Amino acid sequence: MTMDTLVSLCKRRGFIFQSSEIYGGTGSCYDYGPLGVELKQNIKRLLWRDFVQSRADMVGIDASILMHPTVWKASGHLDHFTDPMVDCRECRLRFRADHVDTLPWTHYCPATKGNKFTIPPGEPCGHCGARRTLCPDCGKGELTAPRQFNLMFKTFMGPVEEDASVAYLRPETAQAMFVNFDNVLQSMRMKLPFGIAQVGRSFRNEITPGNFIFRTREFEQMEIEYFVNPRDAVEGRAADEYWHDRWIADCMAWFRRYGLSEENLRLREHEKDELSHYSKRTVDIDYRFPIGWSELMGIANRTDFDLKQHAKFSGKSLTYFDEERKEHVVPYVVEPAMGVDRALLAFMADAYVEEEVRGERRVVLRFHPELAPVKVAVLPLLKKRDEIVRTAHVIRADLAKQWRVVYDDTAAIGRLYRRQDEVGTPYCVTVDVQTVGDSEKGEAGDGKVTIRERDSMEQARVPIDALRAVFHDLLSGGAWSQVATRFERQIEK
Ligand code: GAP
Repeated sequence: MTMDTLVSLCKRRGFIFQSSEIYGGTGSCYDYGPLGVELKQNIKRLLWRDFVQSRADMVGIDASILMHPTVWKASGHLDHFTDPMVDCRECRLRFRADHVDTLPWTHYCPATKGNKFTIPPGEPCGHCGARRTLCPDCGKGELTAPRQFNLMFKTFMGPVEEDASVAYLRPETAQAMFVNFDNVLQSMRMKLPFGIAQVGRSFRNEITPGNFIFRTREFEQMEIEYFVNPRDAVEGRAADEYWHDRWIADCMAWFRRYGLSEENLRLREHEKDELSHYSKRTVDIDYRFPIGWSELMGIANRTDFDLKQHAKFSGKSLTYFDEERKEHVVPYVVEPAMGVDRALLAFMADAYVEEEVRGERRVVLRFHPELAPVKVAVLPLLKKRDEIVRTAHVIRADLAKQWRVVYDDTAAIGRLYRRQDEVGTPYCVTVDVQTVGDSEKGEAGDGKVTIRERDSMEQARVPIDALRAVFHDLLSGGAWSQVATRFERQIEK
């Protein structure tokens, strides 16, 4: 499956649209459509449930995007948050210096009377053997020497656009956790080790964004700052090193739990020379995206860098009183930092399956039920029978009190099933003549409907009044094979 296949499915089925598309689109900005927003909300809800709500050592915050400008001086973003970039002197396009050789390049080949070719990244021309030296896009202009370019979006607070009112859109959510460290510590009477989490938007003026929602200029992050006492030891190891490994394992387990396959996940240790200025050790969780192995999230040991910097620049003490040792310490921080959009892309890519069923191609998104944007689709077998349609609407309204449930009668049943498969709906409920009976013939209905499971396409006949309990089991992790045995099995019609 290629990225183009995913992009096209996302647009066609209402997951993700190009931003401002009717005006020609905004560079690397995307809008989540009706199904995309459900999927993204589910990812964020599960992150919050599993990493915040269910843990006694975690709390959350939701901070403002615009922060005091000194935050970015203290954090090092004003000085270090830069990428080297080069410009084309001819067409003026700008590239990240370290990305130029990863792009396909345009070549006017002297060996073929100047014919234009597009050559794959890093390869020489097959006719003249030349390698890229000019602009990869126009193929004509020389590139400038690399210059550092700060990735933060700048804006102005208040009505006057002057240096004194400069503000930045946050490039990461992390800093709000550091500057609120003492507020959270005091108000919630936290004891080390504890963590503060936040999910929210971040902005980076990326020089070469791209690959759909993989690298965009506006994106969402889920970050956790986990504060530990560096003097403590856990299982014979320094607490920060122990917790760093614990968080790496917990994050890997979380991705596996919601469907990412083992063979598409790997850990990558940062080399010493690529570590961020604040990091003692960083490990990325990489995912095998359709563009190849790339970073899904990073887990860094930020030491006491941030709290010390903010204490220095704000003049406020950011320490923790260690009751046992009767001393103040500056906690160390372990930071799991995840991109919500990147996680969504990985979940979509891993769920995508094309298969042949009875001679026909079937596309299925095999989402974990808790991630699926729509949990149940209620489908009438015959839309001309009022009783069937009425019953289907009643079932939908009842189930929709708890889950996202849709009704669809715009095609024949086989087609309706395929449509739901393609957006990853784990269960369909079909109402038919047997359910409602035939009053003209004096036949009573059996009050049962057919539940069809997406992956196995197996069906079971279930009483309407058992539906809520059955879906409660199925959608909170119960296996279809177990739940379905309680009911009469059927073959897909
Ligand atoms: N506070 C540390 C930090 O922000 P990062 O590695 O720069 O670390 C963390 O970002 C995660 O945020 C990345 O692993 C990625 O999932 C996501 N991310 C970063 N830049 C992004 C971008 N331009 N578009 C989409 N996601 C991005």
